[in-house]
Amino acid sequence: MTETSKSLEEFDSELAKVHMRGQWQYDRMLGTVIGGPKPAGVPAIWRWNNILEKLVESCDVLEESFTARRNLTFINPALERGTTHTIAMGMQMLKPGEIAWAHRHTIAALRFAIQGGDGLSTVVDGEICPMEAYDLVLTPRWTWHDHENATGDHAIWLDVLDLGLVMSLNAIFYEPFGDERQPKRADPADYLAARAGSVRPVWERRRDSHVPIRYPWRDIEPRLVAMAGSEGSSYDGIALEYANPMTGGPTLPTLSCWIQLLRSGEETLVHRHTSSSVYFVVRGTGRVVVDETEIEWTKHDAFVIPNWSWHRFINDSKEHDAILFSVNDIPTLKALDLYFEEPELSLASAPWPAVPGNLTRDRRRSS
Ligand SMILES: [Fe+2]
Ligand SMILES: [Fe+2]
Repeated sequence: MTETSKSLEEFDSELAKVHMRGQWQYDRMLGTVIGGPKPAGVPAIWRWNNILEKLVESCDVLEESFTARRNLTFINPALERGTTHTIAMGMQMLKPGEIAWAHRHTIAALRFAIQGGDGLSTVVDGEICPMEAYDLVLTPRWTWHDHENATGDHAIWLDVLDLGLVMSLNAIFYEPFGDERQPKRADPADYLAARAGSVRPVWERRRDSHVPIRYPWRDIEPRLVAMAGSEGSSYDGIALEYANPMTGGPTLPTLSCWIQLLRSGEETLVHRHTSSSVYFVVRGTGRVVVDETEIEWTKHDAFVIPNWSWHRFINDSKEHDAILFSVNDIPTLKALDLYFEEPELSLASAPWPAVPGNLTRDRRRSS
């Protein structure tokens, strides 16, 4: 052992020169994460009027939609990119007769139609997915997709992608198709989506990924309304997850889509979780309180709740329900065993409704 008059700072800089770092440097940083992570980004809202104005302007500035796509991503004011650190949400506009050219990427995406209708479609791996207002269409990672607006009107939809997640994993592949459109499947019997319902061909191998899925609003809305009499979640009201029909699991391997009904006068309890969420207001008005920030929202606004932020929802209206569409990264956090919430069991913990006959029999036994 030799005596040294070297200071720790000098030693740290010497280590840096040979590409090493002492654990003690991390120990100093650990003080900042005791009690959990700092939220990435801040709560923020993008108002429909502003979005619409900029989308319309973008039609002049960017004449051809082609691969660049007329998409405006909502950038969290406290982040360099994305709406949350894992999720990017934005809106896209196609002029009548336009096509957003075919391409594919390993970033998974989904579209929630806002202004759609007969003639607006996303083609995913050769399968035509119509986009009526509030339909949800999945473009799972590495599926070819192009969008076509054959309606007489401007079309608008919400785009949500797991951009930040895939970028941070450095796993991005991108490929243009090389033509405006991809070929479409000629026979509906060959649609993979035709295998995603409650029946499936017995002669084929099972497959559960990279399947184009469409959730028509005309099917989803009645399911949501039918649940209105249920107690629901104290933290989210009547929130339903769009289940992946192939797996029964979350909507996509990394992202989960929810449709959420806040009944008139409903006020939820405060909670927080390690997942982050982006929201779009389908209808109604209300407020969300995120940590110290209160945000009022109305129809077609979009807002973000960062990870590990206390939040609650309020629908002040005495007459009208509100409906929110949202996307979160819960499947990613759960797959990595990193999903935590406070208070615990605020998600997926309530028992199923009891079978009526069993209830009667139990009473007789106990008397
Ligand atoms: Fe794309
Ligand atoms: Fe929540």
